[in-house]
Amino acid sequence: MLRAAARSTRTFRTQPAALRTTRTFTASCSRLTESFALNSLDTFTEEEEILRESVKRFANEVVGPKVREMDERESMDPGIIKGLFEQGLMGIETGVDHGGAESSFTSAIIAIEELAKVDPSVSVMCDVHNTLVNTVLRQHGTKEQQDQWLPQLSQSKLGSFCLSEAASGSDAFALQTRAEKDGDHWVVNGSKMWITNSYEAEIFLIFANVDPSKGYKGITCFIATKDMGIKIAKKEEKLGIRASSTCTLNFDDLRIPAENVIGGEGKGYKIAIEILNEGRIGIAAQMLGLAQGAFDKAVPYTYQRSQFGQPVGTFQGMAFQLAQASVEIESARLLTYNAARRKEEGKSFTKEAAMAKYWASIIAQRVSGQAIEWAGGVGFTRETGIEKFWRDSKIGAIYEGTSNIQLQTIAKFIQKQYS
Ligand code: CAA
Repeated sequence: MLRAAARSTRTFRTQPAALRTTRTFTASCSRLTESFALNSLDTFTEEEEILRESVKRFANEVVGPKVREMDERESMDPGIIKGLFEQGLMGIETGVDHGGAESSFTSAIIAIEELAKVDPSVSVMCDVHNTLVNTVLRQHGTKEQQDQWLPQLSQSKLGSFCLSEAASGSDAFALQTRAEKDGDHWVVNGSKMWITNSYEAEIFLIFANVDPSKGYKGITCFIATKDMGIKIAKKEEKLGIRASSTCTLNFDDLRIPAENVIGGEGKGYKIAIEILNEGRIGIAAQMLGLAQGAFDKAVPYTYQRSQFGQPVGTFQGMAFQLAQASVEIESARLLTYNAARRKEEGKSFTKEAAMAKYWASIIAQRVSGQAIEWAGGVGFTRETGIEKFWRDSKIGAIYEGTSNIQLQTIAKFIQKQYS
């Protein structure tokens, strides 16, 4: 569906970005509006609207019926992974020449958001694959590397991004995994922890230090396949996003061909953090979708259930909570879309991405927690899936940079501006 949408709108991609963002208004708005792109933040292109509808349908019809079972079994249904590839959702920004949809970054954000409304586990799988793995290759891979890896990543093979280690989470650049040159190969030793997608993934981006004497400037990014000898050591049992795999990986003399270095030796730290800046908008979208999903599930029930002779949602105490939560979701939505559009328009977006992720994860936790209370006893049971949203929300403040790391990033910008 996405690929069809991409094809039918291909002509727009040849236009300048400023025109592209305003094309929905061309028939009805003045020249002035067109040239200055005075759009609300929730204005989407036709292609993005089509995408939202198709992901929504896929999420409700294909993912929805499997959410509870996947959560209980703590495993991702292989049919869902296959479905994501078939829907064209695993190469959203990847060029059509490489089997992707060649769509906008905002399209990826929309897909992540819509999937999260139904299952944040499926959402993060799609998010990491698109915004981290594919993006590293699109931005830093050579033509040969892109030709080799992007078609596989668009069509059938799940990707994983391996940065964190037991002793280097927030302090990511202190990683201990080492790579040493041996002829036309690199030999990698070490281990990674809390690696998303790693149980099902076949393609791995691995960050290892090739020259510790240079500190973080020795960190290098390698691409490897599971069959080179990556060992999946332990699958974590988690509070939330239980269908999304999170494993420890071991590399014991893992031999990676020399041509599998991405972006050059010593460039890995910059690649990692710059991609994470974008990835954080993806996590903001996941948390936004999660908050909306919890809201959508719980609120109708508050109008169906009556106590003291009236629907509980109509008591002022409850009605104001619903109103407050809806303002909070909207605030997270605007921060997220703004960060995404800034990135697309080539503006600086690091601070805005950190703000979006920080805020959306707070809102997700708050709204999903309240949603349990709005639904009362029913919300506390596993049957409705409302409590699952709250469990899933907790990771938002942890992965792709904790909330404190986001605050630190924002604070650095404030200091730079005012000191
Ligand atoms: N954007 C671009 N560059 C940045 C940056 C940012 N946000 N933050 C730091 N840098 C650069 C600096 O410019 C500097 O580069 P140069 O030496 O070339 O000038 C370099 O990084 C070091 O800067 P600092 O000394 O300020 O950085 P630090 O060592 O104190 O910490 C950091 C840097 C590790 C990036 C830290 O700020 C951070 O973001 N930690 C969180 C790590 C993280 O997000 N991990 C996620 C793991 S992957 C994951 O979670 C995926 C998943 O499962 C879903």
